[in-house]
Amino acid sequence: MSKDLVQQQFGANAAAYATSAVHAKGASLARLVELVQPKGDWTALDIATGAGHTALAFAPHVASVIASDLTPEMLVESAKLATTKGYTNMTTALADAERLPFPDASFDLVMSRIAPHHFPDIAAFLSESRRVLKPGGTFALVDNVAPDENTTPGFATSDLAAADKAYNGFEKKRDPSHGRALTTAEWTRAIGDAGLKLTHTEHAPKAMDFATWCKTMKVPQDTVAELRTVLTGASGALAAFLKPTVKGDAIGFTLDELIAIAKKPG
Ligand SMILES: C[S@@+](CC[C@H](N)C(=O)[O-])C[C@H]1O[C@@H](n2cnc3c(N)ncnc32)[C@H](O)[C@@H]1O
Repeated sequence: MSKDLVQQQFGANAAAYATSAVHAKGASLARLVELVQPKGDWTALDIATGAGHTALAFAPHVASVIASDLTPEMLVESAKLATTKGYTNMTTALADAERLPFPDASFDLVMSRIAPHHFPDIAAFLSESRRVLKPGGTFALVDNVAPDENTTPGFATSDLAAADKAYNGFEKKRDPSHGRALTTAEWTRAIGDAGLKLTHTEHAPKAMDFATWCKTMKVPQDTVAELRTVLTGASGALAAFLKPTVKGDAIGFTLDELIAIAKKPG
């Protein structure tokens, strides 16, 4: 069911992701390339590629990259973008992150950016990522995280748990295909449990424009009003995490991306 919702939501809004500034130009894109240090003879896999921005950021640095996604319309967008940018070493593949249609030890680099919060089974996604990586290969993750003591220090555990629930509810109201944004602590544990060795983590806050964020998913007006109330009425740990700002008609807030790099033991 949740995967049908993903295909509905992203199928209907695929073109908006091709031009979305957060996805096309977000700071985590260049930072990911810098941290991963891709090599010219590498084969890479981008899981849940959306409009292909992450696959295409790596295309000039690797031998080949597969842009994979569950939503066929997204693969059409990513192929269009590859043609526009003139990259011939990117191919597309229809693939569920939790059941990758690739043989064991196929890739030097497996990555996924701003997407795993849609996956119902993070352990299956990580286990599949590890399986298709070559020994010594690199796993690279960027995803929006929920508040915990890493992002929002100085609050009681119960306040942070309530803010985590409220933040994930806020995301799900805007996009019913949102599953759950994990906390940094949950990601750290899950990556280790999957047998990947974490080598680096950092956080990248990103400034969001509320109106654009709603428009990208064509959120109905009554839901926009409800989301605005959640944001402007936020207090405690939720307000400290989302940092809402109101300037005239413009409402802004902040999301926090976790960037994590790990290795498959060689
Ligand atoms: C926000 S977009 C991805 C953004 C993109 N990675 C980037 O860096 O611009 C989220 C994508 O996740 C895909 N997706 C969600 N669940 C998936 C799953 N189980 N397997 C593969 N792709 C999935 C959606 O189809 C959508 O294209």
